[in-house]
Amino acid sequence: MYSQSTVIAGGLAHIPVVIGVFYFIQKYFSKRALSFPEDTEIKKSPVKPVEQKSVPMPAPVVKAETKAAVKKKHADVPVNIYRPKTPYEGTVIENYSLLKEGAIGRVNHITFDLKDSDPFLNYVEGQSIGIMPAGVDANGKPHKLRLYSIASTRHGDDFKGNTVSLCVRQLQYEKDGETINGVCSTYLCDIKPGDKVKITGPVGKEMLLPDEEDANIVMLATGTGIAPMRAYLRRMFEPTEKEKNKWNFKGKAWLFMGAPKSANLLYEEDLQRYIADNPDNFKYTKAISREQQNTKGGRMYIQDRVLESANELFNMIEDEKTHIYLCGLKGMEPGIDEAMTKAAEEKGLNWSELRPQLKKAGRWHVETY
Ligand code: FAD
Ligand code: A2P
Repeated sequence: MYSQSTVIAGGLAHIPVVIGVFYFIQKYFSKRALSFPEDTEIKKSPVKPVEQKSVPMPAPVVKAETKAAVKKKHADVPVNIYRPKTPYEGTVIENYSLLKEGAIGRVNHITFDLKDSDPFLNYVEGQSIGIMPAGVDANGKPHKLRLYSIASTRHGDDFKGNTVSLCVRQLQYEKDGETINGVCSTYLCDIKPGDKVKITGPVGKEMLLPDEEDANIVMLATGTGIAPMRAYLRRMFEPTEKEKNKWNFKGKAWLFMGAPKSANLLYEEDLQRYIADNPDNFKYTKAISREQQNTKGGRMYIQDRVLESANELFNMIEDEKTHIYLCGLKGMEPGIDEAMTKAAEEKGLNWSELRPQLKKAGRWHVETY
């Protein structure tokens, strides 16, 4: 049907199409890979179109952990020992303000005794508990529980292993010229030593620390988002706690902390002591929004600090041993994402691709509210 010359011409006409397909394949795969040092060689090596078929896709930069592996690793983390129908009634041991004179609002450190719980209400760093405030709601029904991040290590503030501590900000806002107080946060800030409080949990496996002693821990916190970070830092640097936990932290910990005023900085004395004792292992960067300004003249937020430290931070993130924890105001998430995007760009990385990889690898931990 076709003459020999037509067949040859037709074959030649397909060559650009074949080259185009190979070009597309190569471009697609190299775009998916990130330019971490480990894979730059793969990207830079000239790949002949014919060989492309047999070149395996570059190994993922961030090793993904399978769901089964994560489940197995966290199998012995306690959850829901106490549920809302049968909460544990813990006794308040102490309840004191964490703020200095001139601070905005109310933020308290509250400790509950757990020693009479049976089954025992144990927990690990990074988990939360539920609190059921006394009284009833507008419909006459018992108040629903509210979650609070645990601010103590499993050994408790007194290292005896039978207390749990929280860091609670009283919610207050204006509505129609009236000040509204949050139900549970006000209840918690007002309770006195000796009072009984309904506690549920523990819950949560999102914010757990890795087991590795040489892990690096980057912490991004606003306000009471410091709660889980305080537990991590005590586990890493508090001498008596270290004796108890036998976890010899050898990595680098870096806390970015956002507070409205210096007087609102939480657990500041402890943090300064940890820096003095561990200058090579702990870095502490503050964003004091109503006292410091960012480069645009606006309030200084932790995302501005992230940008200032983009290079150093991303050098850490490139290390497989680095975990990032984000806790506090939900509203900070878009700002942090924007800053991470810019910071990543400066290193030739694509944050929208990298973040899900970090998440899958169990290295990106978020708890915002
Ligand atoms: P509520 O009486 O329940 O009032 C909250 C409601 O008020 C909101 O749902 C909204 O409808 C309304 N509201 C709030 N602000 C405004 C506003 N500006 N204008 C109009 N309406 C408004 N909190 C801490 O202090 N410390 C923690 O460590 C902590 N950890 C948490 C961990 C997790 C996993 C989660 C999910 C939350 C955490 N929280 C923490 C928040 C906590 O659970 C409560 O949500 C918070 O204390 C407010 O509860 P409340 O009962 O006082 O307020
Ligand atoms: P500001 O309130 O000055 O705008 P606290 O819980 O003690 O109020 O602290 C929360 C801190 O987080 C404050 O410094 C607050 O700043 C800051 N903040 C508020 N909104 C954001 C946001 N979108 N991103 C990052 N930080 C924020």
